Amino acid sequence: METPNTVEADATVESSFLAGALREIFYSPMNLALLSIICFLIYKIVRDRCEGPGARDAALQPAEPELPKMRRDFTIKELREFDGNQPDGRVLVGVNGNVYDVTKGKRFYGPGGPYATFAGRDASRNLATFSVVANDKDEYDDLSDLGAMEMDSIRDWEMQFKEKYEYVGKLLRNGEVPTIYDNDSNDEDDNNKKDE
Ligand code: HEM
Repeated sequence: METPNTVEADATVESSFLAGALREIFYSPMNLALLSIICFLIYKIVRDRCEGPGARDAALQPAEPELPKMRRDFTIKELREFDGNQPDGRVLVGVNGNVYDVTKGKRFYGPGGPYATFAGRDASRNLATFSVVANDKDEYDDLSDLGAMEMDSIRDWEMQFKEKYEYVGKLLRNGEVPTIYDNDSNDEDDNNKKDE
């Protein structure tokens, strides 16, 4: 049976254990870093649960009605018309020879956004070199001067665009003939997508 003395002793052991554990955590930078990561992950889990599935994507949706799906190829000059400043506000970005409709990411690429310089342009070279300086060249950029690591980086970025945004068509090289797509078909025929 526990006497008042043993209860008191237990409480003292418990509090000194707790104090020791806290000292261990707060006096070691490594443990503090791990603690911050754990708190951040818990915050993310709780936030996602509260907002429900798809809530984050919904937050990315523009308030205005969704634009009809677009399917066509572009020269660099034609692409320039879709920087979000035109009446329908559609924003297109070229990556690795392919064009993506990034309108739902307007807060990034739309006018005034942090990556607005990618809008209506081929962003491949920017993504490879981590630059947001506008690439105003009117000619198709074959990226042939870039190294293997830079090309890998472009492909990694493209994977992200492919996952998040709609594929629209190809970026046309000088003199390349555009593909005629069946715009009535909902078929996800990406056979023409450039894989370079
Ligand atoms: C100080 C430098 C930078 C900071 C702090 C930063 C921060 C961020 C953050 C927080 C996001 C995620 C936004 C979200 O998902 O809510 C993001 C996305 C992105 N960043 Fe940066 N960034 C920086 C520089 C750059 C540079 C130099 C580039 C150019 C290659 C770049 C390209 C992108 C792109 C393409 C996205 C994806 C947007 C999307 O989801 O469509 N960032 N950045």
